[in-house]
Amino acid sequence: MVSRKQHVMPISGSSSVFKEDIFHGKVLFCTGGGSGICRGMTEAIMRHGANATIVGRKLDRLTQTAKELSQVTGRTCLPLQADVRSPSTLKEAVEKTLKEFGRIDFVICGAAGNFLAPIASLSENAFKTVIEIDTIGTFNTIKATLPSLRESKGAYIHVSATLHYHATPYQAHVSAAKAGVDALSAVLAIEEGPNGVRSNVIAPGPIAGTEGMDRLSLKNRDAVPAPTGRMGDIRDIENAAVFLFSDAATYITGQVLPVDGGSWHLLSAF
Ligand code: HXC
Repeated sequence: MVSRKQHVMPISGSSSVFKEDIFHGKVLFCTGGGSGICRGMTEAIMRHGANATIVGRKLDRLTQTAKELSQVTGRTCLPLQADVRSPSTLKEAVEKTLKEFGRIDFVICGAAGNFLAPIASLSENAFKTVIEIDTIGTFNTIKATLPSLRESKGAYIHVSATLHYHATPYQAHVSAAKAGVDALSAVLAIEEGPNGVRSNVIAPGPIAGTEGMDRLSLKNRDAVPAPTGRMGDIRDIENAAVFLFSDAATYITGQVLPVDGGSWHLLSAF
């Protein structure tokens, strides 16, 4: 048996391996960009030259994040309040983005809701709420941005999970929601490929320092070491996003990229 303690793969990306200006002149629209993984991806895309809009429900947090991202990247970040469950607020955010930046090239559908609850005590409304945020929110974001992405021949990244590759207790709502996200992305990819639009999914594993991990404390997962010997870091997701939006990935669409150090393969063996 191979010992997984033998080697810890380092985190890449303390300085980017990608050219600095690859996204010069591009514009990112990111839902859930106020914190965590989506904030990290936005910062990485901006560091490579793009301007960005971050969308979320909490304007205070978005405004602070936008200020910090603009400062560290030297690009412009526009904070806009919208709820992905509300198509009209999303459309308004898209209109404001187009007014400010003139185009949208990249979309990250990252807004998500989560909590631990067994099916037996999960209320109908609780289940529906997560489906509405994750799955319908993704659909609403696609609908609001697709005309712009057709024009720019742009690309989507949807943030999913690896929870639904096997049964994860207390995560029925999120597992169902993320399976829907994966399916939406694949259909979008084949329908819009002829229009020059790509769509892919990033499926993060356990990523240290994120709200998801802090709130969920998925004990079963923590007990199983990743084959890479370490927890995920937000920079791992950032690098995957930069790659998928870059010209290095123009032949990649309709795919799910797990960024989890190989964890889910191991989990499915338990
Ligand atoms: C059981 C809960 C609950 C909990 C809320 N509900 N929290 N049920 N356990 N802990 C129920 C409520 O009782 C209510 O049902 C229904 O859900 C809606 O709750 P509201 O609070 O009214 O909804 P809302 O204000 O829209 O809040 C949405 C939320 C919230 C999802 C419920 O928790 C949220 O937005 N959380 C922050 C986002 C987050 O955690 N992001 C990280 C995602 S990480 P009733 O029946 O009472 O009306 C992620 C990655 C996963 O997704 C992978 C990790 C490895």
